Amino acid sequence: MDNLERIVGDALSQFSSIDDAAELEQAKARFLGKTGALTELLKALGKLPAEERREAGSSINAAKVKLESALAQRRDALAQKQLDARLAEEALDVTLPGRGAGRGRVHPITRTQDRIEAIFRSIGFEVADGPEIETDWNNFTALNNPENHPARSMQDTFYVENLDADGRPLLLRTHTSPMQVRYARMHTPPIKVIAPGRTYRVDSDATHSPMFHQVEGLWIDEDISFADLKGVYTAFLRRFFETEELEVRFRPSFFPFTEPSAEIDMAFGAGPNKGKWLEISGAGQVHPSVIRNFGLDPEKYIGFAFGSGMERLAMLRYGINDLRLFYDGDLRFLQQFA
Ligand code: DAH
Repeated sequence: MDNLERIVGDALSQFSSIDDAAELEQAKARFLGKTGALTELLKALGKLPAEERREAGSSINAAKVKLESALAQRRDALAQKQLDARLAEEALDVTLPGRGAGRGRVHPITRTQDRIEAIFRSIGFEVADGPEIETDWNNFTALNNPENHPARSMQDTFYVENLDADGRPLLLRTHTSPMQVRYARMHTPPIKVIAPGRTYRVDSDATHSPMFHQVEGLWIDEDISFADLKGVYTAFLRRFFETEELEVRFRPSFFPFTEPSAEIDMAFGAGPNKGKWLEISGAGQVHPSVIRNFGLDPEKYIGFAFGSGMERLAMLRYGINDLRLFYDGDLRFLQQFA
């Protein structure tokens, strides 16, 4: 039985010196496996004389229990060691400054729209929203656009494959003016509304984007005159640009849906730009035929409308010279609008 003690001693010293879980299992096999040293001793029991067999058997079994418990302890110790190492490696330094989530900002066009809405709300206008896919009737016909008007051509208008109830192709609205029709047909005068939103035209360069924004305005009642248009729009521009000195000019123009019609220009810039005028909006007194298409009596109701380019207003307010900057998604540009 010297042999047994030697085997136990060997096993215990090997188990305790091994630092690797896989190696520990190999060591286990060397002693307790099918052909392990201790197993061989058990197999040899049969060859012992009967009187020795009992005692030898019980010593070997005791040794086996001892080794198994030593093995289990070592396994636990190695697992704990591995866990400690991992925890140390993945430790968080909670005293480091946080990285923080980048805070989003409102896009300059959205800021411009918010600002326009706030100003018009403060003087009693409602704000309305409508679809970007329009019928030919709302976008053109109801607004007095003749059948052969060039704006209706494929070069200027994005058409959609689906047809409307009249069998005409639907289109992406080319201006916010169809909102005049939609809103007026659903409300009774006084009608006093702005409708900001996206508009689309087949056009793309430094000053034109196929998608752009307009804000439509409409005020209809029994006695709304061109003088009201001048007063309201001039007041709006002065509030928008935060200067009472702003000069505004109404220049005669033509739109099928207004009579008379005007372009609204504002004087902009100092120094070399002094004395330059920039077109901001179309406007006019709503045409009697359009009032009729609203479902109203043109003998009774009269008023004005305007349609302004939102990008134009934003570019002038923030001093931006290329329209495409709004849509490139470049954070260096967008982050300037805190
Ligand atoms: N819808 C016109 C355009 O996109 C702008 C416009 C002109 C709107 C005169 C109006 C208006 O409401 O009265 O060019």
